[in-house]
Formats: sequence, C-alpha cells, structure tokens
Amino acid sequence: MEKIFVFDTTLRDGEQVPGACLNPREKLEIALQLARLKVDAIEAGFPVSSPGDFEAVKAIAEKVKGPTIVALARAVRKDIETAWDAIKKAEKPRIHVFLGTSDIHIRKKFGLDRDKALERGLEALKFAKSLCPDVEYSTEDASRSDPDYLVQVVGQVVAAGATVVNIPDTVGYAVPRQFGRLISYLKAKVPDIDKIVLSVHCHNDLGLATANTLSAVENGARQVECTMNGLGERAGNASLEEIVMAIKTREDYFKFFTAVNTREIMKTSKLVSRMMGMPVQANKAIVGSNAFAHSSGIHQDGILKDRATYEAIRPEDVGITEHAMVLTARSGRHALKHKISEMGYDLQEQEFEAVYNEFLSVADKKRRVYDEDVAVIVQDAIFAHLDHSKLYTLESYKVATGNGEVPEARVKLRREGVVLEASAQGAGPIDAIFKAIDGIVGADHKLEDFQVKAVTETKEAMGIATVRVSREGFRALGRGSSTDILKASAKAYVQAINRLYWLLRRNPEADIYNPK
Ligand code: KIV
Ligand code: ZN
Repeated sequence: MEKIFVFDTTLRDGEQVPGACLNPREKLEIALQLARLKVDAIEAGFPVSSPGDFEAVKAIAEKVKGPTIVALARAVRKDIETAWDAIKKAEKPRIHVFLGTSDIHIRKKFGLDRDKALERGLEALKFAKSLCPDVEYSTEDASRSDPDYLVQVVGQVVAAGATVVNIPDTVGYAVPRQFGRLISYLKAKVPDIDKIVLSVHCHNDLGLATANTLSAVENGARQVECTMNGLGERAGNASLEEIVMAIKTREDYFKFFTAVNTREIMKTSKLVSRMMGMPVQANKAIVGSNAFAHSSGIHQDGILKDRATYEAIRPEDVGITEHAMVLTARSGRHALKHKISEMGYDLQEQEFEAVYNEFLSVADKKRRVYDEDVAVIVQDAIFAHLDHSKLYTLESYKVATGNGEVPEARVKLRREGVVLEASAQGAGPIDAIFKAIDGIVGADHKLEDFQVKAVTETKEAMGIATVRVSREGFRALGRGSSTDILKASAKAYVQAINRLYWLLRRNPEADIYNPK
C-alpha cells in the first residue's frame, strides 16, 4: 500500500476564518497536538502577514518536532525571505510559494500575461530553493486554469526543483470526476512528474472538498491538504478527519494509508474548536457530537446485538472513549499532574498552580472531573498567562434577578492593582454583567458573538463561554469556563476586551483605545 501524505493547514488556511485570530501560544498548542496526531506537514502560517504570525511560525518551527513545518509566501522576495526567517530552525522546514495560473488571476490580480506570470513564479521558486531545499509550489486557482497552461507551469516548476507541486481548487469549483481527470492529465503529460509529490488543496464551496480530494488521490495525488473540522476560507477546506477516516475505513477500496494516529482525532477537533471559538456542527461527519449517536429504536436494537449493524467506523478509532479516569477533589496534585502530562500539556509551574486551584474549585462543585473538564481548565490557565490578556482581571460579580424583575449586576475588575467597580441593569443577567464591565472599561466596542456550551453532559457540567468583540476592523476572541455560566461569560468578555485592547495598542494606525 502507498502512503498518502497529510498536510494540515488549520493554522494557515483554517486560521483565515473570520474571528479565529489565534495568538502565538495558542497556535503552538495546536501545532503540538497536530504533531501528536502525526500529520506529515503543518502549515504554520503566513509569516509576512503580521508580526504575530511570524512569531507563531517561528515558535512552532523551533519547538515542534516530527512533521515538516511549512510557511506560506507569495511569489515575492520579501515574503520568501520572511517565511525562511521564520522556519529556518525547524527540523524539516518547507517554503510554500503560490501564484495563480487561471487567466482571471493572472490578468485581474497581477495585470500580467501567462508567460510573465510563469517567469515570476519560476524566479520566486528559484529564490526559495536557494534558501531551503524543500519548496512547495502552488498553482492557485488551478481548477479554473487552462489544463495545457497548467501542464506547462507544472513541467517548468518540476524542472526548477520544486519538491511538492500543489493543485488547488481555490474557489471550490471542481467536481470529483473532472478534478480526478485533471490530476491524471498532469500525471500523463508532465515529464518527470514522478520526481515530485503531487498535492491537492480543495475548498468546500459546493460541499465537495473531501470527494474532490479523494478523487484526486485515486488519480495520482499523494499529498492531501486539509484542515481540522474542515475550517477555512468561506465554506472551509477539505476536512482532515473525513479524508483520513475515508482512507482508513475504505482501505479495501483505496489501498492507501496515512500515518495519522486516528485516536487523536477527537481530541484535536475539540482543541481546535475551543481555541478558535468555532463550534462543530452536531451532525458533522466523524467529529460531530451526533456522529456516533444512535437514536432510532431499530438502530439501537441493532447496535446492542452487534455494533457493526449500524456503525461502519468504530468510535474508539477516532478517540472517543468513555470518560477514562475521573478525578475528584481528593485526587491530589500528583494525579492531576499525571493526567495533564498524559493529555500532552507541558505546563510551567505557575500555570500548574493556577490549574490546580481552579481544579479544586471545580471538583468541589462538581465532584467528578472528567478529561474534558481538565482540558478546558488547562487551556484557560495557559491563556490567562498570556501577557497581553492581563490588563483587566475579574475580581467578583453579583447579580440580582428574579421573576418579573430587571436583572442588575455589580462587577469588580482589577486593573494594575486598582479595583474598579460598576453596576448596570440588563435584559438578562449576562447582559447586565456585560454592561457593568463596559461601564468600567469605558470601551466603545461591538459585541459580535456570544455562545455558551456545556463541556460534558452531566447536570453539574462546566460551561464554556466564547465571546467575540470588534472595533475599527479588529476582532478579538475571549473564552472563559466555570461551573457557573455567569462567571464563564464574565471571564470570556473580559478576556476578549483585553485582547482587543492589545491588538489596537499594537497597531499604530488604530485610534488608540483608551480605557478609563
Ligand atoms: O486555496 C488556495 O489556493 C490556497 C493556496 C495558497 C494554496 O490556499
Ligand atoms: Zn486555500
């Protein structure tokens, strides 16, 4: 059986989702998990796009071992130099250069003709090769390009030393059989194409990204570009979990394998969803909460007789387990430390102390603390230690509400050692808390989105709140968790404000946000 290389672009194309805005530490946590998932390549970002992204890619290149670390660059010298600067310390670095091949991209985006565009692409590729031996070249909008021009471009980039050539369906326009035919056309027409890895990168605008990717694989592609939970521009990218599980489940048909440790899929999906504040739809294939839930009587009866009656994929193969080890308030530091390191987190002492204190308070209220709860507590503690997220901290809040009464909240926040407080009324208790917080920070921002979700399914479950705020085109995400959803919401709102403030302060063009 031949191997299919899995190239994960959650941290680059996936992070282009509006409002995802991960910071370097969050990106690093996700990259470490992607390494545990055993993807072959991690596209860590687009370093020239912002100083924060450069920093994130650099940290990932220095700390994440195993997968190839990829940085994206336009066919522009400055992009390529910056990409190389970010990844040069990686165990296995790769520069990924892209340039459009469709007439609409060549003429409308660049104002060039086909020959000039090819010349620019080749020059960029040669420059990238002079810095890094592993260079991927993407023919952006390939599926809407003239196939014969594509043959010419791919032929020349192969001759110029590209190690991977990627054929993107940038706007999600392709259909499976046609896309497969394009791949076999390239395989048949391009000399020496077997010397490189042929890759595909499909978007999901027509809901065909996984199908197009698999069709390409059947026709000769050997690298698949995808994202966790199918996140990405517009309708997203091909979903990693769908492609990997299709290849594994239908090994009898495809006769390929990937190196992905599928038992890490669920954990990775949850981490990405929580960090990006992008909930997974319940009926999402493989990772949706209903993906393995059987509700009809006939199905349940069948499952009880033999799971194979209605289950083609085994839940344990994607890492769905019954809550493994349940911790309680009596579990102690050692057991908690063991659990955290088993889950793959590497905490600094100060972070562990914060986790332990929060764990005790959760365990007091909830008695049984599950893996999912521990993961949320750990992630919160990590984010709380990010320097830029600490301008305000939640000291306390009180809400008075009742049937037929207008809810009123009193909130205390600490800023640089000083406790500030305000009261406000609202349409509901959370609205009142948010208004009281606004009263303290005096900020003129917009609340874009607010969601609360239970972490586990028990009655005393922890709630996780996600808040998005924006101002002057900047958007920031905040998260908070607690067994009390009012507290989770208040924490999330304060974090979102802190991050927005930090983003605005960092940008010299932004009208400086000046909280009281
Ligand atoms: O969709 C696309 O074409 C891309 C390229 C940069 C590979 O994301
Ligand atoms: Zn893309």
